[in-house]
Amino acid sequence: MKKVQVLDKTFKLYLPEDEIQSIVRRMAADISRDYKGRNPIICPVLTGSFMFAADLMRDLDFDARVSCVRFSSYQGMASTGHVKEILGFPKECTGHDVIIVEDIIDSGISMERMLEQLKQLNPASIAVCTFLFKPGSFKKNYKIDYIGKEIPDDFIVGYGLDYDDMGRTLRDIYVIDEQ
Ligand code: IMP
Ligand code: MG
Repeated sequence: MKKVQVLDKTFKLYLPEDEIQSIVRRMAADISRDYKGRNPIICPVLTGSFMFAADLMRDLDFDARVSCVRFSSYQGMASTGHVKEILGFPKECTGHDVIIVEDIIDSGISMERMLEQLKQLNPASIAVCTFLFKPGSFKKNYKIDYIGKEIPDDFIVGYGLDYDDMGRTLRDIYVIDEQ
């Protein structure tokens, strides 16, 4: 089993690059079908989703505006429970279809805060797209429109996701190795 060291922790291979890419292609096909003839604004959530958003957008078959947002809640391997807005949604969201693109939804607190902010701009529609989803720790009740893969509650890194800002360049996704 392939293992990697990120700072003081060891991680083992969980989702290899080829599986990641086939999930991304499936999601892009779903979104392309649903948004045929429309030009939504795509809002990737920095920093974690930059790699997923780049792969996803290459596979969409419609043109789209992109406006990154940045909200942060995680420190080390746990959510702080406080979500800070660092870069919010642009005014152009008003009256437009908006797709929020996240790397992972865990407790759901960050996305809840983003949805509250975005709704104030009165977009024509809002869709939530996340590459990974941890149903075991999700405590909210909003709809998640596109989910790449449901995963257990364990901490993961790679493909843009970090442990204390490291591990993002890994092409595969790795899970914490408790051994
Ligand atoms: P939530 O607010 O608990 O849903 O957390 C969402 C954010 O926490 C994500 O956008 C990630 O940045 C981060 N996060 C959640 N789980 C993990 C993980 O397993 N590895 C790395 N980052 C994570
Ligand atoms: Mg994130």
